[in-house]
Amino acid sequence: MSEFTNSSLKVLFSAAQVQERIQEMGARITRDYQGKSLALVCVLKGASLFTADLMRAIDLPLTVDFIAVSSYGAASKSSGEVRILKDLDTSLKGRDVLVVEDIVDTGLTLNYLLDNFRRRDAASVQVAALLDKPERRLATVDVAYIGFTIPNEFVVGYGLDYAERYRNLPFVAILQPND
Ligand code: PRP
Repeated sequence: MSEFTNSSLKVLFSAAQVQERIQEMGARITRDYQGKSLALVCVLKGASLFTADLMRAIDLPLTVDFIAVSSYGAASKSSGEVRILKDLDTSLKGRDVLVVEDIVDTGLTLNYLLDNFRRRDAASVQVAALLDKPERRLATVDVAYIGFTIPNEFVVGYGLDYAERYRNLPFVAILQPND
């Protein structure tokens, strides 16, 4: 595939580092959500790997559901327009919702989702994100659980893609153009 031939990957967090951090996050969430009605919401597709590992690191009864959104459609990111492509199958009423994201970039996707989930009468709504790129933030969002804070670089792997590729990498890497 020619569009990928002039780029290279620089590992930012190894598979072992990612897994170790997720275990820590899971332990903290386990402590914080004792006695609550934990509902994980995975934001497809990027958060799929993180959700699969994080849910196994949480030692509590929980449910998991999936939502697919199209960020901004054809419009530019800064429009903040988010469309739901696949909605949740289950109600969030009275649930302690933990939105699971792979990355918080501008924050516009999360801003929309948090508002949307609160309207569904959730008891609480918090966020767990593997990666946080604060330099790019356009909307203020409160992220309760952050795996790693990263610089303003284009990252792929562990669920994150470039043109749908690289999601299967077990590590997080910076995609660097070579020319
Ligand atoms: C990514 C990521 C978040 C969003 C973050 O999804 O998974 O949902 O962008 O960006 P923001 O903070 O600027 O809103 P993407 O639209 O790339 O879809 P994908 O998860 O299916 O790859």
